[in-house]
Amino acid sequence: MQYSDKVMEHFMHPHNVGKMENPDATATEGSPACGDQVTVYLKVDEESHTISDVSFLSYGCASNIATASMITDLAKGKTLEEAKKITWRDAMEALDGLPPVKVHCSVLAADTLLTAISNYEIAKGLKEVPDFTKETIVEELKKIIYPKVGEDIVSLKMVKYVGFNHGEILIDLNIPSFDQWRGNVADEIREHLEKYPDVKDIQINFPE
Ligand code: FES
Repeated sequence: MQYSDKVMEHFMHPHNVGKMENPDATATEGSPACGDQVTVYLKVDEESHTISDVSFLSYGCASNIATASMITDLAKGKTLEEAKKITWRDAMEALDGLPPVKVHCSVLAADTLLTAISNYEIAKGLKEVPDFTKETIVEELKKIIYPKVGEDIVSLKMVKYVGFNHGEILIDLNIPSFDQWRGNVADEIREHLEKYPDVKDIQINFPE
């Protein structure tokens, strides 16, 4: 697999690695695509709401380590509002790109940072636990990468319809039966959405 020099550099000499003692917030997320995990630790200045320190532990592949290293670099010294705007595309671009089947590693790193920030905000009463809505589903679908091209399924217009009613999710996907990644995408959608207690059933439909 062809990695950029930047990816190799952050993989061989990752920044901000290690468990943090007494963090103000933490989050561990796993990637349904491969089972890899990453944990992010945050220290936040209470007055300025600035990330004064950030570190991570990785239980995953080379690009999992490299993207976690980069995303923690990008987040350090930023306010929470600024850090919330860091996307997986930012991390990937800062690493001079990733192979398509490894783009989800960047999504995992960005997602874990965002969850750690959200956990901090909830713990400090800066925000409420968000309700589960159709928007939550769409946000989760934006994290699912179609491995063949390394783009998310929403940007690729593969999602035709999303419905949510009384705990039941209905999703229509525009992926034909001959597409070898169809099952993989459906499995990932289920794994992303099943973790929400509000979700009782997930139905995914494809064209004939
Ligand atoms: Fe899954 Fe890298 S995080 S292969």
